[in-house]
Amino acid sequence: MPVISWKDEYSVGVAELDGHHKKLISMINELHLAMNSDRGQRLVKTIISEMLDYARMHFEIEEGYMRQVEYLGLLGHYREHENFVNKARDLKQRSEEGEFVLSLEVIHFLSDWLKKHILETDMKYVPLFKEKGIR
Ligand SMILES: [Fe+2]
Ligand SMILES: [Fe+2]
Repeated sequence: MPVISWKDEYSVGVAELDGHHKKLISMINELHLAMNSDRGQRLVKTIISEMLDYARMHFEIEEGYMRQVEYLGLLGHYREHENFVNKARDLKQRSEEGEFVLSLEVIHFLSDWLKKHILETDMKYVPLFKEKGIR
């Protein structure tokens, strides 16, 4: 069973950004599968690295839209993105140092972070994006 699944309530009303969130959700699930597989270690390392790159790309685009519409919550939002990047970067580094074992706790941290971030933080820009015609 996936640790996290897309739900319509996660939609921010912008197809591009929903697509990014869907991809991040599937990467967390891939990580979970890799953790439980035999050749997990190599795969875990690769997925963590890809997830870090993908999250950065997503955050950059999302922040671009927020700047474009002069969203006032940008700074706090930006800090949350930065915290995630730091966490993922730390994971990446540890995964490259051998002896690394990915725990279910980390998987849950990632999925809980994403869920909470989309529902509580990303959702806050939705009314302004709608008003400004970002879709
Ligand atoms: Fe965000
Ligand atoms: Fe987002």
